[in-house]
Amino acid sequence: MAIIKPEMHFFICNSYRVAGEAKGACNAKGAGDLLAYLETEILDRGLDAQVSGCGCLKVCEKGPVMVMYPAGKWFAEVDEEKLDAILDAIEEGEETTEHEIE
Ligand code: FES
Repeated sequence: MAIIKPEMHFFICNSYRVAGEAKGACNAKGAGDLLAYLETEILDRGLDAQVSGCGCLKVCEKGPVMVMYPAGKWFAEVDEEKLDAILDAIEEGEETTEHEIE
């Protein structure tokens, strides 16, 4: 059975542990709220994208951390303002490099 795959996939670290508990640096800095915010923004903007929370991406000091595929870009210390800027750039067809982890 074929599945519908989104054009883009965003992963926000929510510090999930093996038992499924969200606990760690990114979660403590509000990553849970960012997941909901990003999902709402994607729906409002009509982007073909999916949002998922994930476990620790091993750059905790830069959290909350977000990874964007298929571009393979990593973003540090994301907040609602930075997510808006990233989504604005995508809508305008621009390269998003601000706040990117090199
Ligand atoms: S808890 Fe988010 S990168 Fe480690």
